[in-house]
Amino acid sequence: MTMTNCLLVLAIVGLVFVSFPGLSRGDGGAHRGRELAGGCKPSGTLRPTRSHSCEDCCSARQSYPTYTCSPAITGSNNAVMTLNNFDADGEGGSDPSECDGMYHSNTELVVALSTGWYANNRRCNKNIRINANGRSVLAKVVDECDSLHGCDKEHGYQPPCRPNVVDASQAVWDALGITGEEVGEYNITWSDA
Ligand SMILES: *[C@@H]1O[C@H](CO)[C@@H](O)[C@H](O)[C@H]1NC(C)=O
Repeated sequence: MTMTNCLLVLAIVGLVFVSFPGLSRGDGGAHRGRELAGGCKPSGTLRPTRSHSCEDCCSARQSYPTYTCSPAITGSNNAVMTLNNFDADGEGGSDPSECDGMYHSNTELVVALSTGWYANNRRCNKNIRINANGRSVLAKVVDECDSLHGCDKEHGYQPPCRPNVVDASQAVWDALGITGEEVGEYNITWSDA
């Protein structure tokens, strides 16, 4: 390679990093959500007009990516499991479950899936198999974890759901033997059952 060609290549590489600074960044905020999305890109951005004071509530200083998709379904899907209250006395006055219009006891093995995986009710009332912590459990899909909307009363002022979430009842965490500090956010795999 001649000196001129070599300089040209360096200039092009430099230009790419200047144009797409995200490429050179390892972590942080919305970028983290994008990284976890595994081939599913944000469809838009939610900018709340005011902040809410609870922990994990939306902040007006931040914007939140929204997603219509979830990572493509494979035999074993990587996901982040979070804890959800399916009961009528849930914080933030949450609505009944989307699939059946009912509240559920947190002693039931039930989950909500991110919008893309929820697939317009297609997984409603079907079981998924969740593997984590060396154990496995069947849980029924009863609700959507909304990846498109959030930061409002209806969603308890929480940001939109990440695209790769299995939002599970306490019973699911118990069945997997995950306790104490580890409850809240946990990497799992799941498959259709
Ligand atoms: C969970 O998975 C994400 C992405 O797949 C990874 O970046 C993170 O380090 C994992 N967390 C733990 C605690 O293993």
